[in-house]
Amino acid sequence: MPEDQGDQTPVGIDVSVPHPARLYDYYLGGKDNFPADRAAAERVLDAAPEARLMARENRRFLVRAARFLAAECGVRQFLDIGTGIPTSPNLHEIVQDVAPASRIVYTDNDRLVLAYARALLTSTPDGVTAYLDADLRHVDRILSAPEVTETLDFTRPVGLFLVAILHFITDEENPGTIVKSLLDALPEGSYLVLSHATADLRPTAAEDVVSTYRSAAMALTLRAKAEIASFFDGTDLLDPGLVQVPTWRPTDELPPGHEDVWIYGGVGHVARQTVR
Ligand SMILES: C[S@@+](CC[C@H](N)C(=O)[O-])C[C@H]1O[C@@H](n2cnc3c(N)ncnc32)[C@H](O)[C@@H]1O
Repeated sequence: MPEDQGDQTPVGIDVSVPHPARLYDYYLGGKDNFPADRAAAERVLDAAPEARLMARENRRFLVRAARFLAAECGVRQFLDIGTGIPTSPNLHEIVQDVAPASRIVYTDNDRLVLAYARALLTSTPDGVTAYLDADLRHVDRILSAPEVTETLDFTRPVGLFLVAILHFITDEENPGTIVKSLLDALPEGSYLVLSHATADLRPTAAEDVVSTYRSAAMALTLRAKAEIASFFDGTDLLDPGLVQVPTWRPTDELPPGHEDVWIYGGVGHVARQTVR
């Protein structure tokens, strides 16, 4: 974890405007957030007290999916877009625990994540971690960046992580095209790990949360299950399919309130080149 920066303002970062990465950090109990983030997060928690549980369960989904890919599918390369502020365990810690030579590229568009990236660059000596400051809306830039091309071998399977990021992409920004462009770049045998918030399950709370984010200038687009499932087009969705994240291959007893977690998650296997 990065050192606690208190409310000291990191150079070049506008902390007067709330940012999704820092709200998420607040829900997770982290310290890398500022008064504007905390005020917005508290408004979200008023509307949806389950937000903390959702963040924790989303993170636990990421951990289980990463371990599954490394331990059971033999994946050794990972591209994690929308990494978030470092939190324990980070993706590389999970997969390098299984296979120390694993190679990981982290990407986020929040300058604060960049500022703390050193906590993500603590690879085992046999493996590699790299960090790219980039935006998911610019797929070509991500795929051609040296941090990506020099770390990942696109002739071998890659685990692509788009966990709790696509709901920050509006319909006008064509999230389906973004995911397709990324999948098209991955070879057969790759995997897509994706989670996404939905309004299907707690529509009133979800609508309140969307308005709170909007009033703080953050666009949050919740999508129905079928729409989220369409992001997996061109992959075989593995068991148990697209489900509320706590119920994706749980390893512990489900926590109280897990039915209120309005985030769907799943893992798809790229069994052939995606032709759509
Ligand atoms: C809710 S956090 C999820 C963090 C992590 N993936 C997880 O699930 O634990 C969403 C992250 O996506 C990042 N993000 C949002 N929009 C993005 C974009 N267009 N490009 C890159 N990163 C983005 C945010 O900065 C934030 O760190």
